[in-house]
Amino acid sequence: MKVLPKTYLLPVFLFLLNLGCQKVKDNEFSIPTAVSLTSNPDQLFKEPYRPQFHFSPQKKWMNDPNGMVFYKGVYHLFYQYYPDDIVWGPMHWGHATSTDLIHWQHKKIALFPDKLGLIFSGSAVIDYNNTSGLGTTEHPPMIAIFTYHNMAFEKAGKINTQSQGLAYSLDEGETWKKYERNPIIGNTNKKDFRDPKVFWNSDTKLWTMALVAGDRAEFYTSKNLIDWTKESEFGKQYGAHGGVWECPDIFKLKVNGNEEEKWILIISINPGAPNGGSGTQYFVGDFDGKTFTSAQKEPKWIDFGTDNYAGVTYNDAPNNQRIFIGWMSNWLYARNTPTKNWRSAMTLPRTLELTKINGEYLLKNKPVAAFKKLQKPAFTSNKIPLKANQKTDFKYEAFNQSEIRFNAANKDLQLVFSNDVKDSLVLHYNPKSKTFSIDRRKSGKVAFEKNFGKDIHKSNVSALVTNQIDFQIILDWSSIELFLNDGLYSFTEQIFPQKPYTQLNILSTEDQELQDFTISSISSIWPKKIAKNE
Ligand code: FRU
Repeated sequence: MKVLPKTYLLPVFLFLLNLGCQKVKDNEFSIPTAVSLTSNPDQLFKEPYRPQFHFSPQKKWMNDPNGMVFYKGVYHLFYQYYPDDIVWGPMHWGHATSTDLIHWQHKKIALFPDKLGLIFSGSAVIDYNNTSGLGTTEHPPMIAIFTYHNMAFEKAGKINTQSQGLAYSLDEGETWKKYERNPIIGNTNKKDFRDPKVFWNSDTKLWTMALVAGDRAEFYTSKNLIDWTKESEFGKQYGAHGGVWECPDIFKLKVNGNEEEKWILIISINPGAPNGGSGTQYFVGDFDGKTFTSAQKEPKWIDFGTDNYAGVTYNDAPNNQRIFIGWMSNWLYARNTPTKNWRSAMTLPRTLELTKINGEYLLKNKPVAAFKKLQKPAFTSNKIPLKANQKTDFKYEAFNQSEIRFNAANKDLQLVFSNDVKDSLVLHYNPKSKTFSIDRRKSGKVAFEKNFGKDIHKSNVSALVTNQIDFQIILDWSSIELFLNDGLYSFTEQIFPQKPYTQLNILSTEDQELQDFTISSISSIWPKKIAKNE
């Protein structure tokens, strides 16, 4: 039996009565595969801290997700990749594919640096009508539009190091050719000029691009993906400007799934995030195909944790879904995290939805529905009464590969994950100050960089106006993702416990009841044997 509520007897009783005995007999509580990580730590995908259900490269350095496009039943994920080291270096585009956004197949490197520069972030589209002339309508080209970063120019002290390039694939992303007249958008002496997000605007019937230029976004249109016209700029006087604007995205969403539609502009910024370093802000407004306008002057943030950066969304995802993936790190310490062989992972793919609370537009993000198929309930209880200031403890060997989900009253609540070497990760909702905090100062290894374990990360969560709050907490071997009220607020952070967390304490200053409480184990997405050079 893996779950043993220690100080609270009712859950033990219910557990044994309703589910426990039977399930233990059925042996459904077998130790999740991830627990065996310690037995052979050097095996690929079994290394210490290797995420078991988040995408990470087989080996070496990864940062931003790039070129996210759905085509013929396959989700393509390209990413900033340096194949020779576990720190940032000359950028390539790595490539992976998935049919469900959960299980991934590692593919060959898609784009290599060339004489025009390194391959920085960008996007991909399917040119169904062959507007570019680079394929045929029967075999439409997959087209990647990315930023070239010219190191020779940088070394020579030039400012105009970044330009936009195009590459195309006629075999569904397997092999790529660079467009021979690159760059398609040259540089007019702008220092930071990068990260093109291209999409087909079905309103204007034009290819449309957002890219960033230092402290603003620029919008372009094109008939053929090759010749681009600059239409407008947005942002100099809007949002956060503590750092350079990076990785834009723009798309429209229905408000609460109804008829009203708004456009969302996503902009990552580094530094200048609310909890330090890198973060991703968004603006809600309108876009007439040329110009983005917004009444919103202050930034709103996609995620209030420290580790969700450079996130963008899929082109052409089925059923009009807007699916987002972020890089689960922060430039403050991305190069220092204590992993060997590989460095960093992506967030879980998340569905974006737009809602309106007290007259304010807010973007929700929550794990895609397919994530459910990895879950196996290990403990469930309809009701867990909490007595004021009295702890309720759960013991479970596999918190670092689990989901904890329940509804709580809109009252004070603290959750502490810990292990027997005294690592502890503290989450706290304070209804009076309307704040939620994550304290990872003692969560495990933190000393690898001075900012990582410095502060408690406290965020305003004033849109939690419901009587009940839905908590969804997802822990992998080096991350926590937390979603409140179905993704109205999300918090994503890296953690490096010295041993897996085995204990959860729940405490409230008020009497209350947790409802529909479930601890689920999460299966590993990696096959038992992975070919090293897949
Ligand atoms: C964001 C970013 C992008 C750039 C890429 C380089 O993390 O700085 O602006 O294209 O990383 O790897």
